[in-house]
Amino acid sequence: MKKRILINTGGGDAPGLNAVIRAIVLSALNRGWEAYGIRRGYDGLFFEGGLVRLTRDAVRGITHLGGTILGTSNRGNPLNTPVTLPDGTVTTRDRSAEIIAAVRDGGFDGLIAIGGDGSLHIASHLYDQGLPVIAVPKTIDNDLSATAVTFGFATAVETATDAIDKLHSTAEAHQRVMVVELMGRHVGWIALHAGIAGSADVILIPEIPYDLDRVCQKIQQRYSRGREFAIVVAAEGAFPMGGEPEFKEKARPGAAARYGGVAEILAAEIAEVTGRETRSLVLGHLQRGGAPTAVDRVLALRFGADAVEFAAENKWGCMVAINPPRVDAVPIREAVASLKMVPADGDLVRTARALGMSFGD
Ligand code: F6P
Repeated sequence: MKKRILINTGGGDAPGLNAVIRAIVLSALNRGWEAYGIRRGYDGLFFEGGLVRLTRDAVRGITHLGGTILGTSNRGNPLNTPVTLPDGTVTTRDRSAEIIAAVRDGGFDGLIAIGGDGSLHIASHLYDQGLPVIAVPKTIDNDLSATAVTFGFATAVETATDAIDKLHSTAEAHQRVMVVELMGRHVGWIALHAGIAGSADVILIPEIPYDLDRVCQKIQQRYSRGREFAIVVAAEGAFPMGGEPEFKEKARPGAAARYGGVAEILAAEIAEVTGRETRSLVLGHLQRGGAPTAVDRVLALRFGADAVEFAAENKWGCMVAINPPRVDAVPIREAVASLKMVPADGDLVRTARALGMSFGD
């Protein structure tokens, strides 16, 4: 049966979003369906011109492009929209009924929601409220437990590894310690993979709280063996034993916390304890930009085509998930139930330890 589907990209962007949009649109059009996109997250349902018809032309030549042609937003959760009451107090309201009404009034059969943890919680709630939704996982953080991997992650790891490679030569030239902060609020997948690939000396991740003295011992040991420079990779959510992560901005109604600052603080502490010249840098949003790697493109194109197939089979309420070699339909509710953390005693951590890398524990 002919369907009219709507696509939403929510949360922080990830390389591969355009590839997944293209795959959804082409797969839908090739079935004789119609495809539309919402611009800038759910907000696009409520402003003039916020819905765009997605034709073959609209998705031509976009597989290799970073970003999203639809735009996205990770500010303002529609289930938790801040409202200021007449007495000045700020409360929140749930706009899901308005979203569902807008999708139905547009004559759409269902929504394909592409997003990470936050956006998929919204998708799960909208489905529970009666909206037909298929979810597509997206995040550079790779923290969704129901899928072995998400597109965007491989590209972010490439970018981070390239940065660590470049830091080696300048660190060595100046006999410095370089501390690089990578993305990963709650999980350390990017830091772990890039740290191993880039031969870091110390890898700090939220799953393994660190002890500053252990970090410094590892650095001193390296210098005493004649390797007079060191690379420390820290996920932005890494924190010391008994301490807490560094924030740029704490969470407030309608806005998630912004992490950041651990590298700068660590660099100052390392310099003080070891007496070694230390510099820090934050790689930041570079990790979200650029062309997706071929691996991410293939994964995104696969997810897009499978999302349309699931919609054709009326598997609403499901998320596409890769469980190599298969792509499965997993209930969205299960997919968002828990974050996929780095197992502290898992084989990748063991590999790093076997190579002599320290987790500061
Ligand atoms: O996409 C997830 C993520 O990359 C986190 O690791 C990071 O904390 C966050 O996005 C930052 O997003 P923004 O600065 O766009 O709010």
